[in-house]
Amino acid sequence: MSKKLWGGRFTKSESKSATEFNASIDFDQKMYRQDIAGSRAHAAMLAKQGIISQDDAAAIDAGLAEILADIEAGKIEFTIENEDIHMNIESILTERIGEPGKRLHTARSRNDQVAVDFRLWTKEAAISVLDDLKRLLNSIYEIADKHKDSIMPGYTHLQRAQPVTPAYHFMAYFHMFKRDYSRFCDCIDRMDYLPLGSGALAGTTYNTDRRFLAEQLGFAGIVENAMDAVSDRDFALEFLSNASICMMHLSRFCEELIIWSSTEFKFIEIDDAYSTGSSIMPQKKNPDMAELIRGKTGRVYGDMITLFTLMKGLPLAYNKDMQEDKPPVFDAAETLRACINIFADMLDTMTLNTDIMEQAAKSGFMNATDAADYLVSKGVPFRECHEIIGQIVLYCINHGKAIEELSLQQLQDFSPKFGPDIYENIDLRACVKAKKSEGSTSFESVNKMLSDAKAYLIEIE
Ligand code: ARG
Repeated sequence: MSKKLWGGRFTKSESKSATEFNASIDFDQKMYRQDIAGSRAHAAMLAKQGIISQDDAAAIDAGLAEILADIEAGKIEFTIENEDIHMNIESILTERIGEPGKRLHTARSRNDQVAVDFRLWTKEAAISVLDDLKRLLNSIYEIADKHKDSIMPGYTHLQRAQPVTPAYHFMAYFHMFKRDYSRFCDCIDRMDYLPLGSGALAGTTYNTDRRFLAEQLGFAGIVENAMDAVSDRDFALEFLSNASICMMHLSRFCEELIIWSSTEFKFIEIDDAYSTGSSIMPQKKNPDMAELIRGKTGRVYGDMITLFTLMKGLPLAYNKDMQEDKPPVFDAAETLRACINIFADMLDTMTLNTDIMEQAAKSGFMNATDAADYLVSKGVPFRECHEIIGQIVLYCINHGKAIEELSLQQLQDFSPKFGPDIYENIDLRACVKAKKSEGSTSFESVNKMLSDAKAYLIEIE
């Protein structure tokens, strides 16, 4: 059995089952680039500080560059005997360059090493998510901009409530994802501090230069307390929390698309390229992508709960439990990114049946609030108006009519305050147009939202 890098104080070798159980190389090999970058910076720092020789540092650097190329060319096989990505790379390095390889781990522990690798990985993932979100925001903007003149029902309790424009509905999602974007930016800022150079938990006795390391690895600064540096996984928890919120937004959007694509609604047509059929029912066209995204939301929540549960109650500093921190983050990052992109694809190719949407907006008394507002404008207190219109709606339901289908005389039987101008006031388009509050569904307000969104998209580009 090969000797462990940490084997000095041991007289017996680890059991095979313990070796298997203990190893994380299966999943943490994903961090090979970050591990090598961290080690190259560390070696450069050790040489700059005179802790190892320039020659040793040069040999380490060249060796690591070669290992990186070999991993990327698929030429390297990792082993569970070397447990994790850190010890796999270090032992390959030592095999290849001999003694200088054994000096690499001076003034470093795997605890600060894994902390820096994982932060680098998570930071890169968060930056990639920003790119994905930009793409999604652009897709939402486009579909909103295309549908700013038509009308659809707006819902509460999934009951027809008030007429809105599809652009307005889509822009609500724009703002949700815009917040997601800013949440990921915030978490990147907060995780942008270097844990490397903290040693196992207490710092090191060497004259290291952590600020140099931070600069080399592109961090804004260093984690100030070494014990915190090796114990902290807040950055991963924030990433998972942000991913969960973003998935929840996607899931709500998906739920609406699923409902809207049903035969009962027929508001949208999801492109064939993003739909699937049934193996038994020839007529079926299912919104599988949207359903899967909704389903994968549960999976990302699970990832988040996994890490929250894992961290709860861990004493400082490092504990081996923390080796289990990576799979949920890797899984959530991959899932979130795939979901955002497939969702944007679906949005880019889907079509709206605006006629059907508009037709739907015509029933369901969506202008009832506007009819009440009309009476308010004639001096009737709002609560009374509400009661009067409620009675009119009941009458309409019993007689299969819409409010605008009643004659002026019929309306005046409910309130003498109705005049002939009621009809132009409860026309659907007029209802939308009449909204005056900032942020409303009026055409003017949505145009402003769209131009603000455009400016935002240019700003983050
Ligand atoms: N594979 C370990 C992890 O992922 C690396 C750190 C191990 N440190 C230790 N002292 N056992 O957390």
